[in-house]
Amino acid sequence: MAEESVNWVLMVTAQTPTNIAVIKYWGKRDETLILPVNDSISVTLDPDHLCTTTTVAVSPSFDHDRMWLNAKEISLSGGRFQNCLREIRNCACDFEDKQKGIKIEKKDWEKLHVHIASYNNFPTAAGLASSAAGFACLVFSLAKLMNLREDQSQLSAIARQGSGSACRSLFGGFVKWIMGKDERGSDSLAVQLADEEHWNDLVIIIAVVSSRQKETSSTSGMRESVETSLLLQHRAKEVVPKRIVQMEEAIKNRDFSSFAQLACADSNQFHAVCLDTSPPIFYMNDTSHRIISYVEKWNRSEGSPQVAYTFDAGPNAVMIARNRKVATQLLQRLLFFFPPNPDTDLNSYVLGDKSILHDAG
Ligand code: ADP
Ligand code: DP6
Ligand code: CO
Repeated sequence: MAEESVNWVLMVTAQTPTNIAVIKYWGKRDETLILPVNDSISVTLDPDHLCTTTTVAVSPSFDHDRMWLNAKEISLSGGRFQNCLREIRNCACDFEDKQKGIKIEKKDWEKLHVHIASYNNFPTAAGLASSAAGFACLVFSLAKLMNLREDQSQLSAIARQGSGSACRSLFGGFVKWIMGKDERGSDSLAVQLADEEHWNDLVIIIAVVSSRQKETSSTSGMRESVETSLLLQHRAKEVVPKRIVQMEEAIKNRDFSSFAQLACADSNQFHAVCLDTSPPIFYMNDTSHRIISYVEKWNRSEGSPQVAYTFDAGPNAVMIARNRKVATQLLQRLLFFFPPNPDTDLNSYVLGDKSILHDAG
């Protein structure tokens, strides 16, 4: 490092959207490396809607690694943060900015400390995949800062070690997380199935039923399911492999009926696994159930699916309408049947194509 100028700060800011699984990841075969028991498929939201913005900085004047999440300092001592930081530092490359007199050699990155400030523009730990956008953004911004040469799939394998679902947020459009076979995790990574433009008729609407932090984190929920649910074993071995093939086909052919049928069934089976866990885990609430019944009834009355629904590990509904016309109807009906709650601090708002409703819950 150039000794004469020790006051410099190098900084990178990145923004990463969240992703919502349509074939769910639930269960690890390796807790430390975060290796899943089945493949999963997700859709990444538009970057300007539900997203994380992270700024990472490095300077010789920083004396330890620090992180702020939503303006509150959090500890980086957890294994997941440490694993991501270690992997990124291992892959870091030489960096030079002649104008500023900054020269960092590969070995110097080990000694330089980082400061990380991250902000989620949507509820954290409420079942809208904040860990996905959060760790994807962390890895992406650190990789830019430390001049990594790895491609997106290789970076996804690092983000996976922060939070499994994060590996899929390194890509836009439809993304598959391949579970892999290698017990060291080298082949457990994300690949893009189709880009953002492939099926742009679809409109995603998110109804925030509750923005409160969930009682059981995804990590501990899936650990308990792996330990106690027989349905999880059956799902991972017998059900998901077939659904993955069918879902890839549905996405390729823009076959909304199959897509919706698979996404809804998979969400329901994931929540059935949660109920099959001992003690049972309840992520959905009455409002979530009413939304499911409502969409099911609507789809039946139309003779074919118009809207797909899926719920991650929380009560919030993600609905995918087959086109803009259906999305407009869906929004109107949701606002009528599930009016925004004036008692909460949240208002309903519409964001371009992707809408968010805050509902009474
Ligand atoms: P969610 O359903 O929101 O993904 P999880 O239980 O999977 O909930 O994960 C929540 C955890 O993810 C948080 O407690 C925090 O540790 C981590 N997380 C959330 N946002 C970020 C972020 N922007 N950067 C780093 N980690 C984050
Ligand atoms: C229901 O990726 O949040 O959203 O790997 O322990 O961090 P960790 O869990 P996380 O789990 C996501 C579970 C899910 C389904 C999915 O996103 O595939
Ligand atoms: Co998560």
